[in-house]
This record gives sequence, structure tokens and C-alpha cells, in this order.
Amino acid sequence: MSDLRVIAIDGPAGAGKSTVARALAARLGLEYLDTGAMYRAVTFAALRRGVLDDAAAVAALARDVTLEVGEHGVLVDGVDATVEIRSAEVTRQVSRVAANSAVRTELVARQREWAKVRGGGVIEGRDIASVVFPDAELKLYLTASPRVRAERRVAEAGGDVDEVEAQIAARDSYDSSRADSPLVQADGSRVVDTTGMSIDEVLGAIEGLLQEQE
Ligand code: DC
Repeated sequence: MSDLRVIAIDGPAGAGKSTVARALAARLGLEYLDTGAMYRAVTFAALRRGVLDDAAAVAALARDVTLEVGEHGVLVDGVDATVEIRSAEVTRQVSRVAANSAVRTELVARQREWAKVRGGGVIEGRDIASVVFPDAELKLYLTASPRVRAERRVAEAGGDVDEVEAQIAARDSYDSSRADSPLVQADGSRVVDTTGMSIDEVLGAIEGLLQEQE
């Protein structure tokens, strides 16, 4: 057993992971890490340097870049990229960067180090329970129907629900079928389907699961 207190949250885009992870971290007095923001930040830096099509250069960049992913935003080499990492261009390209094994090796190491210096945290992504922290205190797989996930994304960022649903489906399928660390329901993960649930209801369900673990 690990001596870190880690709550691992995985699931597809739009399942409510970030909102739930942030609220859960506040309730438990832990810090929160959005690992998707790290893959987005590397994608943003690769686009800016014009190296996106060169897998080795993207991997080298992942090792060199300074990333600060915190409550207040994302700094890439000291420059605020909080808004840019959510751009349509980054969203379109990020799955490709996330399928690069050398990038994953580097970011997984950084995620483990992040938790080590803090004694744990609430960490969300796609492979947190399956690869990064298989010994997490609680492993959650958050999901929701594709329609509801698209509606949530549109409520946050605008757009057309049908189009966003199609984009989400394409990204899910890419993230779930890649060779390295695909999105899966890890062994021992508890599945929470958030379709039709409010944030408070989801948090209540998760607190119930935490109590069961004690
Ligand atoms: O959660 P998000 O949409 O911001 O994630 C962006 C991309 O990064 C998504 O396509 C999947 C990938 N990702 C990953 O492969 N592993 C993680 N731990 C987190 C995100």
C-alpha cells in the first residue's frame, strides 16, 4: 500500500471529472490535479514551436518544458496558457500527443512527483487508476451518456450539441483504442454514471464510496 492519499478519477470527456475532482479536493483538504491540462499544455507548446508532426521533437519538448498546472491556471514555460490550452486547435490535436508513449512516460513521472511532494491529491485523467496510481485509496470511473456530456460541454463553452457530441465520440474512441494506457475502467474502479445527477448528488455518492472504504 502506498502512503499517499490519492483519489484517482478517470473517465471520458465531459463526464464531470474536473468539477467533481475540484469539489472533492476542497472537501477532503487535498490539492487537485487536472492531468488532461498537462497533455493539452504539451500540445499547445508543440503547436507553438511547429513540431507537432515530429513525435521525437514532441517527446523532447515534453521533457524540457516547464509546466505549472494549478488551481489558478496553467503556465507553459512561465507564460499563461490557461485559455489557449482549451482552444479548438489544441482540443483537435491533443489525443495524438497523448498517444505518444515518450510523452506519457514523462508526464506520468511528473504526476507521481506532484503527488509525492503533497502527500497525495485528487487526480483526474484517463489512466490515473489503471497506470499512474493503481494503489489509490479510491478509484473512480466517472461517465455519462454521450448526449449529456455534449450538452455539458456546450453549456460551458458554447457550440452545437450534435457537432460537439460527434467530436467527443471521436476523441473517446481514439483515447480508448490507443496502444499505450487507453481509457479503461481499471480493476477495482467504482463506476459513477453522472447522467441525470447534480454535482451534489455525485459528491454524495462518492462520499458514500469513501466511507465504504474505511
Ligand atoms: O480531460 P481533457 O479533455 O482535458 O484531456 C485532454 C486529452 O488528454 C484527452 O484527449 C485525453 C488525454 N489524456 C490522457 O491521455 N491521459 C490523461 N491522464 C489525461 C488526459
